[in-house]
Amino acid sequence: MKKAVIITGTSSGLGKEMFDLLTDLSSILIISLSRRFLDSQLELAKSNKHIRLIEQDFNQPEQLLKKMEISQELSAFNVEEIIFINNAGIVEPIGSIEEFEPDKIRKSIDVNFTSPLYMTQMLYKESLKLKTKFSILNISSKAATQTYDGWGLYCATKAGAKMFYDVIDEQHKDNRKVEVTTIDPGVMDTQLQENIRQAENVYFPNRGHFVNLKEENRLPAPEMVARDILSKHVFDK
Ligand SMILES: NC(=O)c1ccc[n+]([C@@H]2O[C@H](COP(=O)([O-])OP(=O)(O)OC[C@H]3O[C@@H](n4cnc5c(N)ncnc54)[C@H](OP(=O)(O)O)[C@@H]3O)[C@@H](O)[C@H]2O)c1
Repeated sequence: MKKAVIITGTSSGLGKEMFDLLTDLSSILIISLSRRFLDSQLELAKSNKHIRLIEQDFNQPEQLLKKMEISQELSAFNVEEIIFINNAGIVEPIGSIEEFEPDKIRKSIDVNFTSPLYMTQMLYKESLKLKTKFSILNISSKAATQTYDGWGLYCATKAGAKMFYDVIDEQHKDNRKVEVTTIDPGVMDTQLQENIRQAENVYFPNRGHFVNLKEENRLPAPEMVARDILSKHVFDK
């Protein structure tokens, strides 16, 4: 089956590792939407027509509605399965409710909830138009189902996205052409964890726990997690 993987946030952490593993396979069309790209990724895309890099800041979800090139790439590839990996995410703002600035609230909702929703809607429409299978891998978090003191926005936006995908799953339970998987990758040694550890001057009673995870070497490498996710949900299907 000719697969196209559309993945968000490939400049660091889990997204970067998934991008590296995906681009090792020449048979898949890979479209990355990120607000920045690494030099190695830009270089690779120059010589590989199956790799497409599209700059997108998910703080501006309305821009997604104009991303016509995704549609063009998909139809030119004669794709049979569209796989959307909703990976880009931010943990900020961390703190107590009265500390959250309106701009930070909006960013959290835009990156973790609104942009994935727009992306999903756009790709779903493409799958209907092109009569392809549509698979969604929602990279979620324990914070979508469990409260973490100081992470009101992260918990709420991750929970919101998970519920959105759960409803899509429910709607298509008798339709084998739409598949939805929400994945909690567990803690990983990425920039996001670094940002958690750096939240020193705000209300965050459990910061010490995350500092200990790093100091005690208990954060798995994202490369290992990426390999596990892709082997279960993209490569082996
Ligand atoms: N690390 C963990 O312990 C952990 C645990 C559970 C779940 N997760 C989830 O795993 C996913 C990946 O996180 P990670 O740990 O790999 O974090 P990361 O290293 O910080 O990577 C996050 C990615 O999202 C991108 N991103 C952030 N804001 C963006 C924006 N406004 N527009 C476009 N892209 C943006 C980042 O781009 P820049 O490089 O430009 O910032 C980066 O590529 C997230 O959904 C996260 O919630 C992580």
